[in-house]
Amino acid sequence: MLDKALIQKLRESKSIVVFTGAGISAESGVPTFRDAQTGLWANFKAEELATRAAFRKNPKMVWEWYAMRRAMILDVKPNAGHYAIAEMEKRRDVLLVTQNVDSLHSVAGSKSVLELHGNIFRTKCFMNNEIIDSWSDEEIPPRCPNCGSHLRPDVVWFGEDLSDGAISKTEEAIDRCDIFITIGTSGLVYPAAELPFYARKAGAFTIEINTEPTPFSDYASCSLRGKSGEILPQFLSAM
Ligand code: OAD
Repeated sequence: MLDKALIQKLRESKSIVVFTGAGISAESGVPTFRDAQTGLWANFKAEELATRAAFRKNPKMVWEWYAMRRAMILDVKPNAGHYAIAEMEKRRDVLLVTQNVDSLHSVAGSKSVLELHGNIFRTKCFMNNEIIDSWSDEEIPPRCPNCGSHLRPDVVWFGEDLSDGAISKTEEAIDRCDIFITIGTSGLVYPAAELPFYARKAGAFTIEINTEPTPFSDYASCSLRGKSGEILPQFLSAM
C-alpha cells in the first residue's frame, strides 16, 4: 500500500522521468547483471565479457554470449512493471531512460525511450561503429560487409562513452520534471548512477523502487522496497 503523501504527489505530477535498470526485467525472467551467470557462462562475470579488450581477445566468445542473451530475451515478455510505465506515458509527460538493452520497454508500448546503454538487437562495426543491418553468417562473429572488421552488438561496454548527448538530454528532462523514479538499478555503473543524485539536486521528488537497498536509498525522497511489477501498477492507480 502506498502512503497518502506519495499518492498525492503522484496524482499532482505532470512531468516524470523514469529511470530503469535490469531489475525491471527480472520478473520477465531476464537475469540481472549482479545475478550469478549460469550454464556455460557460470565462470564469467558480465564485466569481464562486456569490454573491448574481451572482444579483441576472444571475439567468438563475446559474440556467442550476446547471441545467448538475445535468444533468451526473445523468449520472454514484458511484465506488469513495463506495461505500467507504458501506460503512464499516456497520462503524463514521461521520459523513460533505461540502462537495459533488451527492448522490453518498447515491446510493452513505451514510445519515449532513451536507451543509455544501446540495444542488443542492433549490430555495428567494431572498427568504425557504423550500424549494419545485414551480413553473411559464414563466420562467428560475422564480418562487416563494408570494411571486413568484426561486427559487434550496439551496446555500451565498460570503459566506453555513452552516445552523444544522452546524459545532457536526460538532465534537461530532469530539470523540467516534478518526479524522478529510479527502478531496479544497483546504482553501481557510472555515469548512469549519477542521475538519481542529479535529480535530487535539481529539486525533483525522487522515488526509488528496488527489492534491495542501494547507494541512493538514503537520499531518495521515498524509497520503496519491493518488486517493480507489483509496485508500479499501484502508481498507476494512484494517478
Ligand atoms: P544490476 O544487476 O546491477 O542491478 C539490478 C537491481 O535490480 C538490483 O539493485 C536488484 O536489487 C534490483 N531488482 C531485482 N529484481 C527486482 C524487481 N523485481 N523489482 C525491483 N528491483 C529489482 O543492474 P543495473 O543496475 O541495471 O551496463 O546495471 C547497470 C549496468 O551494469 C547495466 O546496464 C550494464 C551492467 O553491466 C552495461 O552493460 C554498460
